[in-house]
Amino acid sequence: MGAVHTTGPVGQSLPHESALGHVTGRSAYVDDLPELQGTLHAALGLSPVAHGRLLGIDVAALKAQPGVVAVFTAEDIPGPNDCGPIVHDDPILAQGELRYLGQPVFAVVAQTRDAARRAAALAAKVIQHEPLPARFSLREAHASGEHVVPPMRLARSASGAGVASAMAQAPHRLSGQFSLGGQEQFYLEGQISYAAPQDDGGLKIWCSTQHPSEMQALVAHALAWPQHQVQVECRRMGGGFGGKESQSALFACVAGLAAARLRRPVKLRPDRDDDMLITGRRHGFEFDWAVGFDDAGRLLALDVTLLGHAGHSADLSPPVMTRALCHIDNAYWLPEVSLLGALPRTHTQSNTAFRGFGGPQGALITEVIIDHIARHLQIDPLAVRQANWYGQDGDGERNTTPYGQKVVDNVMPALAAELVEQARYTQRRADIATFNAHSPVLKKGLALTPVKFGISFNVNHFNQAGALVHVYTDGTVLVNHGGCEMGQGLHTKVAQVVAHELGLELTQVRITATDTSKVANTSATAASTGADLNGKAAQDAARKIRERLAALVATGWGCAAADIAFRQGQLHGPRGQSLSFKDAVGQAYLARVQLWADGFYATPGLHWDRQTLNGRPFYYFAYGAAVSEVLLDTLTGEWKLLRADLLHDVGQSLNPALDIGQIEGAFVQGMGWLTTEELVWHPQTGKLLTHAPSTYKIPTANDVPEALHTRLFANRNVEDTIHRSKAVGEPPLLLAFSVFLALRDAVAACGAPGCQPPLSAPATPEALLRAIHAVQA
Ligand code: MTE
Ligand code: MOS
Repeated sequence: MGAVHTTGPVGQSLPHESALGHVTGRSAYVDDLPELQGTLHAALGLSPVAHGRLLGIDVAALKAQPGVVAVFTAEDIPGPNDCGPIVHDDPILAQGELRYLGQPVFAVVAQTRDAARRAAALAAKVIQHEPLPARFSLREAHASGEHVVPPMRLARSASGAGVASAMAQAPHRLSGQFSLGGQEQFYLEGQISYAAPQDDGGLKIWCSTQHPSEMQALVAHALAWPQHQVQVECRRMGGGFGGKESQSALFACVAGLAAARLRRPVKLRPDRDDDMLITGRRHGFEFDWAVGFDDAGRLLALDVTLLGHAGHSADLSPPVMTRALCHIDNAYWLPEVSLLGALPRTHTQSNTAFRGFGGPQGALITEVIIDHIARHLQIDPLAVRQANWYGQDGDGERNTTPYGQKVVDNVMPALAAELVEQARYTQRRADIATFNAHSPVLKKGLALTPVKFGISFNVNHFNQAGALVHVYTDGTVLVNHGGCEMGQGLHTKVAQVVAHELGLELTQVRITATDTSKVANTSATAASTGADLNGKAAQDAARKIRERLAALVATGWGCAAADIAFRQGQLHGPRGQSLSFKDAVGQAYLARVQLWADGFYATPGLHWDRQTLNGRPFYYFAYGAAVSEVLLDTLTGEWKLLRADLLHDVGQSLNPALDIGQIEGAFVQGMGWLTTEELVWHPQTGKLLTHAPSTYKIPTANDVPEALHTRLFANRNVEDTIHRSKAVGEPPLLLAFSVFLALRDAVAACGAPGCQPPLSAPATPEALLRAIHAVQA
């Protein structure tokens, strides 16, 4: 902090800026906006087959349907038929080839949403196609060399001798396969875009998106328009979870195309089933692993092949795999490591960002391997974890990640030790052993798992942000910044930062909708960087205004600007002078001082070599750990999470209430991924069968354990982040590893000591029963 003194709401548990609106239903989402005169509704016609040659579409039959105004196909797109974020292999509407069951092939625009949907439902009748063989298996696609981008390799040998030699010399070796399912984002507000022509020939699009600038660019691209003709606005999302980072684009492009062509407002809101059939989700992974270790469980050599389920196109799969590779170390020093990350192409939805962005998949396999090591050696998995922590600062090599970044603030050992105490781990471990010894049917399981998660986009140039701060003559403040609100509380945090900077109460600061016409060229609100980036940019803008006010008032008071403090709505001088913020603003206006400012921030110190997967991709790491205890019914596979203790590092919290909300939400969401949320595609047709809440089971309030103890770890970011806080959006999702491994622990209690339950994820009751029967046999 500079010499100017401020105090304000930073660090306080203030309510989310929309809390009242959320619970009263007053917060408006895109579909709640009053519809403009002449609004039409679009619906998408979806491919009825997983793979085929597209021969034609009976457009005339569709146009003859009641209420239908227009039908658009790929041929109607003036610019490139592409909405892919990186590789540009994502058609907006199918052209030539049908790539997955559910792929949008045409758009019907009608007077009502119902009429559009009825016509679009004729897809199977009007799409003429010739079926082609479809591929659904990750392993088969990998074996036949079908990948969306070439496989990536990350290897490091601290000894220089190589992983193979370290593996050969290791006292113990284990190997295996692990299968990990994907996960639907299940944002409560589905995908939606509403596009309206503007009087000057441009378009305004209200879009539920984490990335308004990308939506603007892609709509302009598809229309072959300059970007300044497209404006995208997002006030809030009813959840994004990564699913609206790139994949809101298809909906924005179709609504934009229809509105531009028809010169009428067009809204596109697929229902939940279509949303799930069209869009991708978290990548399921298949792993082949081998590990060499010593008697204490120290990891001497690790060799893993990671197959990430990309689907039909690249979308964000390459950076998702990069993050998976960069999180395989989780919290551990891996001296000898060799990784192959491949992204097989199949005829299914294209998988995309989901909270953690590959990080959870990479870190989980190592935690599963550690569990195997512990059971093999018949020691507590916690002891194996403790034997493998990264070193403390100054420990040299033991602090270098496989991708070359130094871990400079390793709080993991201290954090885990604190949690062991808080959760009474040792005592409960003993209690559970006693319980299991006397309980033939119900078995308990316990696990402590750590998290170390890297913060920043792996792509350097995304790590920038902008903001605008306006101060009006009555002393009230309006903030606009490049980040999007999706429930995580970003707008509240940014408002707190601005209020703090100007010494105001939070009620004096209002945040407006994210809007490409206010802050240009923004990055996605993703990678948990929202508050880090936009908080700093807004602080920069607010500081400029504060400094201008201080300079003006200092002249009158005959003191240095730096000696003026902004506190509780007042400016305070060194000799007891004071002036209300409002009066200072009034004076500044009359003196023709600029009362609004822009701010900018770019994360310093990052570098990354995409070829060698080496550098410093992360500004810092966020840490955490969790202890979970489960009770498993070994006759039915049903189970209950009895208690969870979460200890998580958010640095110096900007808002503890919001941070705890993020930690608990992420934990429960992660638990859903690893236990109840199972995705099933029909083995012959490739149809996603779990495309609605009737068949896809997300966790509910009932699944939250009665005993949920969440604490913030007392820490301060060693890097100069906004008020020394740490990002919190994604890292705590990994805390849910403890639930999965507690279940594995409970299953192991059904077998002989040293048994290895063949438990894949999600650990559904069926999967648990299979594993129980296997260890009992
Ligand atoms: N919390 C809520 N309530 N809703 C969401 O959609 N998305 C998560 C996380 N927390 C999400 C959420 C994801 S995937 C990310 S990357 C971060 O929030 C993004 O916001 P942040 O960068 O401001 O933390
Ligand atoms: Mo979050 S997966 O980075 O949108």
